[in-house]
Amino acid sequence: MTPPRGVAVLPPFETHSAQARAIADLFTQTLIVCGIILLVVTFLVTYCVVRFREKDPKKEPVQTAGHTRLEITWTLIPVLIVAGLTLLTARTMASSDPPADREPDITVIGHQWWWEVRYRSGAVTANEIHMPVGRDVLVALESADVIHDFWVPQLGRKIDVTPGYPTHVWLEADAAGTYLGTCAEFCGAQHAWMRLLVVAQSPEEFAAWDQHEREPAPNPTDPEAAKGARLFVDMTCAQCHAIRRPGVTITQPNSGPDLTHVAERTTLGAGVLDNDEKNLWRWLKDPQGIKPGSHMPSVQLSDKKATDLVTYFETLR
Ligand code: CUA
Repeated sequence: MTPPRGVAVLPPFETHSAQARAIADLFTQTLIVCGIILLVVTFLVTYCVVRFREKDPKKEPVQTAGHTRLEITWTLIPVLIVAGLTLLTARTMASSDPPADREPDITVIGHQWWWEVRYRSGAVTANEIHMPVGRDVLVALESADVIHDFWVPQLGRKIDVTPGYPTHVWLEADAAGTYLGTCAEFCGAQHAWMRLLVVAQSPEEFAAWDQHEREPAPNPTDPEAAKGARLFVDMTCAQCHAIRRPGVTITQPNSGPDLTHVAERTTLGAGVLDNDEKNLWRWLKDPQGIKPGSHMPSVQLSDKKATDLVTYFETLR
């Protein structure tokens, strides 16, 4: 997976939580067991082919039928191996997927093709989860449309997100940093652009982020930005996207990402573009050219209107 610009993403086989480590350990243990089986079987077959070959081409090789001791052995050994692997798997399941024992900290909702992230504190964001390092974060998962699959490989298990079947996953990061996640279940045309970033920060940094994220967007002061703010309401944008502003009541629409603090996010379109002024302008002008099939319509904005909207969105920090 290619990370967005400026994001140092840790190698995918590095594990950064107890849950992810349990899964990686099970993978290694299974690989070792299967490797040993491969070596033993290869050796035995080669040995038998060489050792028991009938050297006289005219003679029929000795036929052996029924060998109770051998049959018991080759039944018992695989049964023991499967039982051992089952035990290891059960142990991993217990440690990688502990039961939910409290209210979820975050609710993540899969949409075609982006992730809505709602915090218990009231903060709402998209395609970017911030969390304190070293703490268990309980994530409730829901889908707004089709089956998605939530997966942040370095932090834990992969889990299907099925409409009508809310579920949960634990996230925990043992090191501060940015972790790349993705939708791991084919969910339509833009499945590949349903990325997610998990930003693990110190508890103080996280508290400050959460506090700021709960605040409404500032009212625009610059005249161009004010024009953009008006456009946002007058055009169709406000029907899908929420911008929480002081003195403006918005019935919480969530068919598109909440844009209250959009300028702070790392990417646009769930990872399809890095979030900067130039890309935001391109995205507003031609979302269907950049992410064909996405539910963001190309509304034929004039260059001037796109610029006013970008000026406004850039104030949303
Ligand atoms: Cu959502 Cu693939």
